[in-house]
Amino acid sequence: MVSGMAHKIAVVPGDGIGPEIIGEGRKVLDAAAEKHGFKIKWEEFPYGADHYFATKELLPDEGLKRLSKNEAIYLGALGDPRATPGVLEKGILLKMRFYFDEYVNLRPIRLLEGVDCPLKGKKPGDINFTIIRENTEDFYVGIGHRAKQGKNKQELEVIRDLYRVKFGLDVDVDGDEIAYQIGVISKKGSERIIRYAFEYAKKKGKTKVTAVDKANVLDKVYGLWREQVEAVAKDYPEIQYEFNFVDAITMWFVKQPEYYQVVVTPNMFGDIISDLGAMIQGGLGLAPGGNINPDGVSMFEPIHGSAPKYKGMNVANPLATIWAGALLLDEIGQEKAAEDVVRAVESVLREGKVRTKDLGGTNTTSDMGDAVAKKVLGKG
Ligand code: IPM
Ligand code: MN
Repeated sequence: MVSGMAHKIAVVPGDGIGPEIIGEGRKVLDAAAEKHGFKIKWEEFPYGADHYFATKELLPDEGLKRLSKNEAIYLGALGDPRATPGVLEKGILLKMRFYFDEYVNLRPIRLLEGVDCPLKGKKPGDINFTIIRENTEDFYVGIGHRAKQGKNKQELEVIRDLYRVKFGLDVDVDGDEIAYQIGVISKKGSERIIRYAFEYAKKKGKTKVTAVDKANVLDKVYGLWREQVEAVAKDYPEIQYEFNFVDAITMWFVKQPEYYQVVVTPNMFGDIISDLGAMIQGGLGLAPGGNINPDGVSMFEPIHGSAPKYKGMNVANPLATIWAGALLLDEIGQEKAAEDVVRAVESVLREGKVRTKDLGGTNTTSDMGDAVAKKVLGKG
């Protein structure tokens, strides 16, 4: 990107603490832009609980079209106690992930200096790996049903950029009500995320990729997944690879996190193990996530939720959002600015003068944003 040019970034502050943390994220990204001689043109979108209750609208097609005119999306958080669980998450967050085909969920797991780790004896450097989670398939395709005693017919459909699949099911239940949910994994869908993981390892000078599954039980879906790991690995003879079952990897994340470099995982297991990853890196207040389509519009967010009980109190830690902003800068080609933001976060944490409640301090959300922004500009 030529200096002086403006990047168009969509911002969806969302619910609960979303607007506060995203405000600090913008502050820091604007500081990084100023330092590196580019501009960010923010376009704000109202989607979230308040908008939903006022208009009955989650994320309309017209909104998706306007979002897609931006280079990337910066998201605060979604979720509200007034809404039925899942309505906002599925109607806005997952809708964006699927619509923009953001098939990579990138989650750096890194214990920064100055942060307490709940694992005894582990230091920065011991916890430094990346989870690369598939983000469009698996049980997240959201098809299934409940069937009562007797004969039921059901048509289920999944529409993705890569394919469209229809299931016509005759469900004949002899007994009490049942429920079923179908997980779908495709050859291409697996191939592209696994290749992304190997490419990522290569680019970052890593030597090993660990692929997660539960192929010992769920043999159809994760059998296909394993085949794709084997096939892609052939193109990267310099990178070792191995398989870990999902139950075992949760043990090893705790016992020997230093063993991991790049972990590639199907969607559902990735959701679970990345929360564990967030905890060993010091808590949800520090864990960023990227939803990436390498050829399209990507979205960046903290991995924590909207924490409604802290809404408007200026106490939440904005560092996960700020770090997510660094991932955003990296994706739009502002790598130097991205590095500066992470460095600034690290040095604020190392100094330990400004600490939010979750880090054992008494500083506010905006104190933290100010401190990082100042560091970025070399003024702190
Ligand atoms: C995450 C979240 C989402 C997910 C929810 C909010 C739908 O937990 O980003 O990990 O399950 O992917
Ligand atoms: Mn999750």
